[in-house]
Amino acid sequence: MINGKKVLFSGMQATGNLTLGNYAGALKNWVALSDEYECYYGVVDMHSITIRQDPATLRQRARNLMILYIAAGLDPEKACIYYQSHVSAHAELAWILNCYTYMGELSRMTQFKDKSAKHADNINAGLFTYPVLMAADILLYQADVVPVGADQMQHLELTRDVAQRFNNIYGDVFTIPEAYIGKSGARIMSLQDPTKKMSKSDENPNASIYLLDDPDTIMRKCKRAVTDSDSQVLYSEDKPGIHNLIDIYCAMTGKQPAEVEREFDGRGYGEFKMAVGEAVVAQLKPLQERYAQLQKDKAYIDGVIKNNAERASRTAMKTLRKVQRKVGFPDRIR
Ligand code: TYM
Repeated sequence: MINGKKVLFSGMQATGNLTLGNYAGALKNWVALSDEYECYYGVVDMHSITIRQDPATLRQRARNLMILYIAAGLDPEKACIYYQSHVSAHAELAWILNCYTYMGELSRMTQFKDKSAKHADNINAGLFTYPVLMAADILLYQADVVPVGADQMQHLELTRDVAQRFNNIYGDVFTIPEAYIGKSGARIMSLQDPTKKMSKSDENPNASIYLLDDPDTIMRKCKRAVTDSDSQVLYSEDKPGIHNLIDIYCAMTGKQPAEVEREFDGRGYGEFKMAVGEAVVAQLKPLQERYAQLQKDKAYIDGVIKNNAERASRTAMKTLRKVQRKVGFPDRIR
């Protein structure tokens, strides 16, 4: 508990342009939950360098991501939005937790397997221990809840296991976090191959809707989304393309799949795809307008960056000091 509220932690990588998957699976829920919890949202730039990055691009993307969090509706006066690399406790706790995480656990992580297959020339130790840094992110703030998309569930399970293991040895040091997976939008698929997750790193730009795509581009991508040759709007696993578009529509409008089936009964795919596009455009418009405005306000964003790094450090340090003491590091002399 912080300030009488339960704690929420989540983060996103500043790698590539954010997609509608990131929005529907995470960002949208962050905003919805932000009044109820004491919130920490990291721009997790330290995770980004597990894949080789161009420094200037990473710096720019990290800043854009911070602005996008605010543009999506997070209030940086309330929610603590900060750069992970500005809070050194993340790296320090990650080191300690590395010593309580097994190689076998890390080698089972599907994201590690996928990323090492994709970047076979750079299978570095950071890529392997990536989930430990993620566990440190969450545990430093004693988070009760972690809103993420379905693809992060395995990492969250590992976080819980490591925290539990640590607590079993040293007493109740860490809060055991729960994942929060939204009712709709937890797993948005590629528009070009609905058996694959919509991803920032997809090389085909038509596979993803980016949060800063203009309305024409969004409409075009929705119209061209791959579907089957039938024409009935049915929420069925046998129709992955339409299933995905229904998921997107539900995530944008708050409707239920059965309601959508009724709404589009007998109206065909063409009309449905238009409606999906329009719902996405309507949802992203205010975010895009705020984003453009905030980009102009350098002093405001700089203030957020500075204040929140200090705020996050204060909370994180309390946990780190406790952990250091528990494992037997000598006390500091004051
Ligand atoms: P990242 O940056 O890949 O994704 C950010 C968030 O977006 C969700 N997401 C999706 N949700 C639905 N459909 C999709 N197609 C889709 N693609 C991405 C992700 O589940 C995630 O919630 N390891 C994390 C970042 C991280 C983190 C943390 C998250 C670092 N430390 C601590 C939570 C807590 C990642 O790479 O997310």
